[in-house]
Amino acid sequence: MADRESAQEAYDRFAPVYDEFNSANNYELWLGEVLLPELGKHGLRRGWALDVGCGTGRAFDPLLDRGWKVVGCDGSAGMLAQAREKFGERVQLIHTDARELDAIAPSSEHVGGESFQLVLLLNEVVNYLTEDGDLERAFAGVRRNLSKDGLVVFDTNTLLWFRESFASGKSEEMSARGWDWHGLNQTVERGATYEARLSGQGVEQHVHRQRHWTPGQVDAALESSGLRPLAALGQREENWQVILEEPVDEERDSKIIHIATPAS
Ligand SMILES: C[S@@+](CC[C@H](N)C(=O)[O-])C[C@H]1O[C@@H](n2cnc3c(N)ncnc32)[C@H](O)[C@@H]1O
Repeated sequence: MADRESAQEAYDRFAPVYDEFNSANNYELWLGEVLLPELGKHGLRRGWALDVGCGTGRAFDPLLDRGWKVVGCDGSAGMLAQAREKFGERVQLIHTDARELDAIAPSSEHVGGESFQLVLLLNEVVNYLTEDGDLERAFAGVRRNLSKDGLVVFDTNTLLWFRESFASGKSEEMSARGWDWHGLNQTVERGATYEARLSGQGVEQHVHRQRHWTPGQVDAALESSGLRPLAALGQREENWQVILEEPVDEERDSKIIHIATPAS
């Protein structure tokens, strides 16, 4: 294993270039046009959204544009500073670890007595939870914040994604853009923890550490945290479109989209 910096420390270093590094990710398409309509099939009602691991706030615009009220939280002060610079007082931001999420709703001043209709953990947040028990701790916090008929949505990376991003050495695409993204794993195994080192233009070198969680492990953690899994959809991109399809195929899809609701 490379040095054991935390995800928060890694993201403090990554923050200055995060938006530029991820500029190809289209959140209006992904969240606005694909995920929110998918959640609508499960009865999503507009209200307060809690974006856990919100980072620089890439998910905020599609929500705000559709009339959602947004609270974001993240463990990295550097990422939150970027979000604050972009969104000012239009969202509320909280510096907290996803595994120690207190009940922000319904009693605190943040949401004026209402609960969250939607909790999101988007773009690999769950994969950054790498220790046994981390999923249960994070999902218990989600449960504490979700209204009875609310929904939580999150993605997890597939084996295909780990093979392409963490076990194939240096990324030529990133090199062309001035960064050295270097996957450090030799092999890909279900349930393993993976590392990649990032350095280059405008970014202090750091290590990204992610764990592959199997759908079974995710569902077990949801259930033991008082959440009921509603759907697990394979996600892939084709011709600039985002396609969701069941059943999941870890060798075809790059992500799995999980949707759950409180069990009672
Ligand atoms: C790939 S970024 C995604 C950010 C944002 N959700 C997006 O879609 O752009 C992962 C985020 O998860 C946050 N994160 C990772 N582990 C965390 C933890 N234990 N608690 C809180 N935030 C965490 C990082 O700080 C980072 O902002």
